[in-house]
Parts: sequence; structure tokens; C-alpha cells
Amino acid sequence: MDNKVNNQEGRGSWGSSFGFIMAAAGSAVGLGNLWKFPYLAGKNGGAVFVVAYLLIVVLVGFTMMLGEMIIGRKTQLDPYGAYKKLNKNWGFLGSIGILTAFLILSYYSVVGGWVIKYIVATVTGKIGADKAAYFTGFIGGSVEPLIYHGIFMVLTVAIVIKGISDGIEKASKFMMPALLVMLIVVAIRSVTLNGASAGLSYYLKPDFSKFRPSVLVDALGQVFFSLSLGMGALITYGSYLKGDENLEKNALIIPSLDTAVALLAGFAVLPAVFAFGFEPSQGPGLMFITLPAVFEVMPFGTIFGIIFFVLVFFAALTSAISLLEVAVAYCIDSLKWTRIKAVSIASTLMFIIGIFASLSMGPMADVHIPLFNRGVFDTLDFFTSNILMPIGGFLMAIFIGYIWGVDEAIAEVKKSPGVKFKLEKFWTILIKYVVPFAIFIVLLSSLGLLDKILGK
Ligand code: TRP
Repeated sequence: MDNKVNNQEGRGSWGSSFGFIMAAAGSAVGLGNLWKFPYLAGKNGGAVFVVAYLLIVVLVGFTMMLGEMIIGRKTQLDPYGAYKKLNKNWGFLGSIGILTAFLILSYYSVVGGWVIKYIVATVTGKIGADKAAYFTGFIGGSVEPLIYHGIFMVLTVAIVIKGISDGIEKASKFMMPALLVMLIVVAIRSVTLNGASAGLSYYLKPDFSKFRPSVLVDALGQVFFSLSLGMGALITYGSYLKGDENLEKNALIIPSLDTAVALLAGFAVLPAVFAFGFEPSQGPGLMFITLPAVFEVMPFGTIFGIIFFVLVFFAALTSAISLLEVAVAYCIDSLKWTRIKAVSIASTLMFIIGIFASLSMGPMADVHIPLFNRGVFDTLDFFTSNILMPIGGFLMAIFIGYIWGVDEAIAEVKKSPGVKFKLEKFWTILIKYVVPFAIFIVLLSSLGLLDKILGK
């Protein structure tokens, strides 16, 4: 009954502040932290990237996260309904977000399937000597990766179908703390290996001669992806919040947790990679090719390997449920569907797009999407992370700063009883000037226009 007093009929709401934080941190902590962050750090000169990342989290991550939560709690609606309620011409921005969620989950679920496969393969010891051949052989297959993609999607559905407090919140409250404990165990193992120190200094001692503008571009893209920003995931989660929640505090805690996990993932991966003489700049294969090789030579490596892939699986699953929930919330709030219908139809569509993403690793490798000149999987990744999310984030900052107005946004933060907005001035300057400018530059650069403008 309580929920119905505070929220629109039947939408559901978080049972507790802790539950919300675990769910939002669950959305943020995902493959982005465990898979992308270590390899981006490896590729971009280690500590230099880490420094750039931290700076951007504080300036852009916090600001955007608070902005999204404000819109969500204020309107108590899905992203489309939310923007439309605040300004009738801006519903399109929510639609971009919902489209983004669709496209991300379709390929995210494919990678989630790979993670399940690697849990199984580590348990059964099937990976064999040539790790790269095993990985490319598996993802290039036509049936097996689709089965795992399907399993991952079904698990995501099983949680989202149960709703906010019984499904998403309950699952996150269990998986997130478990993930953290497992990650700490693997990180301790990694930094105490003989020869870990080379990896530690690569990771922690910035060598500023390695700095290039592309480090900032990669770091900003990564902050967006890792914090689930720019497409309304936090509008959606924020819309299930009750009025007494301190939004500013949450917008500080969640990025801090996410960053802590990303940093820990670096500790778990990079020292081990150095200790056994592998290359940190391996790229995306770091998790599926290099790490299995590391676990193979590490004492009790099978056990650490299993722990590692299970924790990656938890992280991926809690992120996937947030992506599905964005689309589901839209179908429930704006299209007035039931939750069951919304979950079934949305997940089926995502599964189908994902089929093409998966096949593009093998049988459909030669099919290139016009305009993007990439395969399906890479097109989905590039189009969402480098184009749709930055555009969504840029427009959101403009919307809050200039269309809806910061005063209304600030009033929403302060409406909770006894809550002060300590960083009000800092946040205002950032959302009006710094964030739009920073995103704009990065957008130009991902479209390849920055080099042209700078005359290179
Ligand atoms: N943040 C997640 C990760 O790091 C991915 C993710 C979940 C996401 N929900 C999102 C990314 C919404 C962008 C938008 O893996």
C-alpha cells in the first residue's frame, strides 16, 4: 500500500535506500568496469589514463548522474514520459535513450553469454593451450554463442519480470556485495604474485609523456558507459525513488562505488598480466584470451578463474537488467502495457538484434553496415557508445541548463526534508558550461572531425 501512496498506481518503488544504491551501482558496475577499463588503461599508457578517468568522473560523471536522478524522481516516469512531461517538445530525447538501451542490450547480452561460456569452460578445463584460437573459434560459431546469448537474456528476463523491489532490488542486494568480495579476493591474489610490481607501477605511476588527446576521448567515453549515463537508465531508476531520498549523496556514492570497482579490476588484472609476461595493451582480448592464460599458470588458478568469471557474470547481469528496465518502463508508463507483456516483447526484440551481433563474429563477418563500415557488433557498440550516448548526454545537459532550467532541478534536490544541496554552485557551473563543452569535443573527435578542425 505504501508504494501506491508515493508513486503512481502500480509502478513499484525501491524498498530501501540501500536497495536503490545497490541496484544503481549494479547498473553502473558491469563489463565496462571489468572488461573495458583494464584494457583501456592497458592501451592508453596505464596511470595516465587512470588520472584522466578520475578527473572526468568527478567533473562529468557526478554532474550527469545527479541530473538524471533529478529528472527521474521529479517526474516518476520512464525517460520518454519524463522529458515530455517537463517540456512537450523534448520527448524525443527520451526516445533516443530507449533506442540506445535496446541496441546496447542486444550486443551486451552476447558478451554476457561469452562470460557464462567461460565459467563453464574454466570449470571443465576445456580452454586448451591456444587461448586465442579457442576464443575466436567459440565466438565465431553459429549455434553455441547464440545459445549462451539466449541463456543470458532469459536470466535477465527472469529478474526484470519480477519488478522493482522483488526482482531488481533483491537480485542486486545479493549480487553486488558478493561481486565486491570476490573481486577483492582476486585483486589480492594478483598484487601478491611474484613480479606484480611491474604491473603496479605501470598502473599507478603516471608517465605523462604517454599523454595524447585520445586518452581523454577514451576516458570520457568510458565514464559515460561505465556510469550508465546518457540514455536514461538513471532517470528510470530514479523514477522509482521516493521523495525523501538525498539525491546529491547518492550521486556521490554510486560513481564512487563504480570507480572503486574499476580501479580494483585494474589491480586484479594488470599485475597478473605483467607477472606472467603478457602484454597489457592486448585490447578486448585481455579478459577472454590473456586472463585464462594467466589463470592457467597461477597457483590455484582454476579456482581464481572461476571466481573471476562468476563475478564478471554478476556484474554483467545487474547491468543488463537496468538496460532491459529502461525499455520496459517505457512500455509500461507510456504505452500502458503490463510488465509481463513489456518484458517479453522488449527482450525478444533485443535477442533478435543480438543474433546478428553474434553472427557478425563469424558467419556474417563480411557483412558491413553501410555508413559505419563495420560489422553488426562493432556498429552497435560504436553507434551507441560513441554517438547516441554522447548526444543523449549533451542534450540532457542543455535541457537541464537552458530549457527546463537549473532552478527547478535544484529545487527538486532540496525538496527532500532536511536535505541541503552542498555542491549546488559547482554542479550548476558544470552542467551549464563544462559538461556540454566537454561532450561536444569528444563527439567531434569520435566522428573523426576534431582532427580535421585542428588541421591534422
Ligand atoms: N554501465 C554498464 C557497464 O559498465 C553498462 C550499462 C548498463 C550501460 N546500463 C547502461 C551503459 C546504460 C550505458 C547506459 O558495463
